[in-house]
Amino acid sequence: MKFFIDTANLAQIKEANELGILDGVTTNPSLMAKEGIQANDAVMHHYKTICEMVDGDISAEVISTDFEGMVAEGEKLAAIHKNIVVKIPMIKDGIKAIKYFSQKGIKTNCTLVFSAGQAILAAKAGATYLSPFVGRVDDMNWDGIDLIAQISHVYAVQGFKTQILAASIRNPLHIIKCAENGAHVCTCPLSSILGLLKHPLTDIGLAQFLEDAKKFA
Ligand code: G3P
Repeated sequence: MKFFIDTANLAQIKEANELGILDGVTTNPSLMAKEGIQANDAVMHHYKTICEMVDGDISAEVISTDFEGMVAEGEKLAAIHKNIVVKIPMIKDGIKAIKYFSQKGIKTNCTLVFSAGQAILAAKAGATYLSPFVGRVDDMNWDGIDLIAQISHVYAVQGFKTQILAASIRNPLHIIKCAENGAHVCTCPLSSILGLLKHPLTDIGLAQFLEDAKKFA
């Protein structure tokens, strides 16, 4: 399973990248706004900076909701760097735009996915990645991990090539469950990635080893 970081915060991207396990970055307009990046030029510049920091797929989201607008925006985004993946919402014109970019060989990430039906449509259109929002499904008292498992099953049975990019990850257990259930990629906040490190027995064991090592000195 590939690891992406789900943020537009450069310090967090740097920290995750320095771990040596980062395969890419996803962003969205809310994450950009959180970093105070709003003007169009600033957004484009920020994507370029991220592409220069991380050698992997970088999702950049369109904000148009009509086919022509998404195509125009997506082409500008794709021109920033070869690693840009155009992120497109799961709406009718979004499906058309995904098909358009797939025929042009430009990678896409279909976002805001909450059902297996939507996952089938995106795969048929040729999406490179599909982003089901695990945490937001959980927020509705449904099971986000069940959704990952269902899409995983459908894609395997049908031989779809679209990669499942589990998004809206909120904790380390989500990452483990996504791995168990066949997600190809997990895009996570830094805190969830670092949370995977934690085990009290590791800390206790290391403290003991270091204590015993003093005996050699
Ligand atoms: O990858 C999508 C993600 O940024 C949404 O996360 O926590 O706002 O549901 P969240």
